[in-house]
Amino acid sequence: MTGKITLGRLSQMKEKGEKIAALTAYDYSFAKLVDTAGVEMILVGDSLGMAFRGDDNTLKVTLEDMAYHTRAVRKGVERALLVADMPFLSYHINVETALINAGRLISEGAEAVKLEGCDGVAETVKAVLQAGIPVMGHIGLTPQSIHKLGGFRIQGRQAEAAKKLVDEALTLERAGVFSIVLECVPADLAESISGKLRVPTIGIGAGAGCDGQILVVNDLLGMPSNVTPKFVKKYADLSSVVQGAVREYMDETKSGKFPDEEHSYTSTPRHLKAI
Ligand code: KIV
Repeated sequence: MTGKITLGRLSQMKEKGEKIAALTAYDYSFAKLVDTAGVEMILVGDSLGMAFRGDDNTLKVTLEDMAYHTRAVRKGVERALLVADMPFLSYHINVETALINAGRLISEGAEAVKLEGCDGVAETVKAVLQAGIPVMGHIGLTPQSIHKLGGFRIQGRQAEAAKKLVDEALTLERAGVFSIVLECVPADLAESISGKLRVPTIGIGAGAGCDGQILVVNDLLGMPSNVTPKFVKKYADLSSVVQGAVREYMDETKSGKFPDEEHSYTSTPRHLKAI
């Protein structure tokens, strides 16, 4: 599919049953690679705390961090829809700060923001939307509530919890989100939620019945990480590629093979005479 991805395009994709491919990016180079490869959505996720910075969770990520990475990613993205996560406590204190913070990410180049949870958040979603900022929801395993959830674990396995997730998805849709991330939810539940919604669901650890998928780009590429959930499929082993290249560079540096003539500059004769 060519042309800029808009909210309308994502909604058409759901209608036609075409799956949406989304990935995270945290810097210019990866954003450019991922965008030119053709994904429909790029998320500057607060997962950058873990994937980019090596934290144990996403709770230390600040609005300034998100603004910095959104600015870098923006420069690499031309076609995909660019979404930025609102970090921990940047949208809970009151609607006014949520609006100011969402506006900051939009002014750094995001085209939409993502908020986790539903209770106490749906009203904020409406206010952010009223300011003209598209909002993506995120339910199931919501990493910003990790302490309340008791760890990174699958959500909605019991009947009551499953019903709560269905209700949350419908509440967020009514509030106006253009899409919802379902994270770590049983595949059958995620499929049933996707069938009840008009807006596309984007799954991560939520099975094949979602309208699209998202992964953390570092995980997909097999880069070092302190947690590797079961749902991650490694499509490349970049750790070995990078380490192999670094070892070759070291060997050639130590043996004097690098730099050779091709990678060195020569003086002009006139310049040499002057020395
Ligand atoms: O922060 C993030 O990267 C996310 C996705 C994994 C959905 O929220």
